[in-house]
Amino acid sequence: MSAQVDLSGPALIDVIAEGLSRSFKELPARVLYDETGSRLFEEITRLPEYYPTEAERALLVDCASEVFAMSQARTLVEFGAGVQDKTGLLIEAGTSFGSLACYQPIDISSEVLVESAQSMGRVYTGLDIQPVVGDFTTYIALPESPRPRLTCFLGGTIGNLHPVERFEFFNRMGQMTGTGGYMLVGTDLLKDVERIIRAYDDSEGVTARFLLNVVDVLNSECDTNLDKDDFDYVPLWDALENRMDLRLRSRREQNFAIRDQGIRLAAGEEIRIEVSTKFTLEQVREEFESAGLQVEHQFRNDDFALTLARVG
Ligand SMILES: C[S@@+](CC[C@H](N)C(=O)[O-])C[C@H]1O[C@@H](n2cnc3c(N)ncnc32)[C@H](O)[C@@H]1O
Repeated sequence: MSAQVDLSGPALIDVIAEGLSRSFKELPARVLYDETGSRLFEEITRLPEYYPTEAERALLVDCASEVFAMSQARTLVEFGAGVQDKTGLLIEAGTSFGSLACYQPIDISSEVLVESAQSMGRVYTGLDIQPVVGDFTTYIALPESPRPRLTCFLGGTIGNLHPVERFEFFNRMGQMTGTGGYMLVGTDLLKDVERIIRAYDDSEGVTARFLLNVVDVLNSECDTNLDKDDFDYVPLWDALENRMDLRLRSRREQNFAIRDQGIRLAAGEEIRIEVSTKFTLEQVREEFESAGLQVEHQFRNDDFALTLARVG
């Protein structure tokens, strides 16, 4: 495995201070993924209510060989790679096909990224694995590697971005893929709303712990002294935007400072931490096309879709 490259971008404390100074308070989803948060997310993916992981895995089993036959990719780049669990299916297809030489997993959560890349390195010994600590909401100058590239964004993480951010992301992803390369993006599909809500409000309370862990992240990043018991986890379905809207609600008025900036949370005030948008196949195709990307194929099952696009 190559040494990790750190391109993590703006300091988290600045991002948090900005988000909490808005009239409607909102933080980027990356605040969820310190080491504890990343482990809690892994636990979520094993919950019976959380269907996206297994739905996407089933699709990858079916389509990974076809994706490599079409893309002939020599480098696989993965945005928001996390534990890189399902990626093994793509790597195995790429090595069986014979083209894949290099894997570049990108994540903001460096501990989990590096640990997972190391264990991938023990399994796929012939592959050059180059972990990159980076923020996918910015352009990341990837280390040079053999072309063409296949870039992938799994887990439905694209749905954590707002519409304008998705448009910008698709543009950047296209640039980072390069001419002649392919992009593979996983999206959770719109379905029975009760089933979606249950996936974010599990009976064991793991998702609530995942969201409340943000209070610990604020304390460690911003030197605050907030108490988890002063917050409730609030999962909402937003029927206008077709998305889950995951928030923390303050149980009482709270006043604190980040650097020199005073922050006031009123009793009952909410902080949006993450949205998770659910898509129709047509909407995904339109979003790719409006970013100038040509959709080659959409693989789907009842729950999930993988869209493969070519960068012309
Ligand atoms: C929903 S999880 C998906 C993980 C994995 N790809 C999967 O399919 O299970 C989102 C991943 O994106 C990472 N992430 C979140 N925001 C990020 C950002 N701005 N830049 C880079 N990685 C980010 C998290 O650390 C986490 O590993």
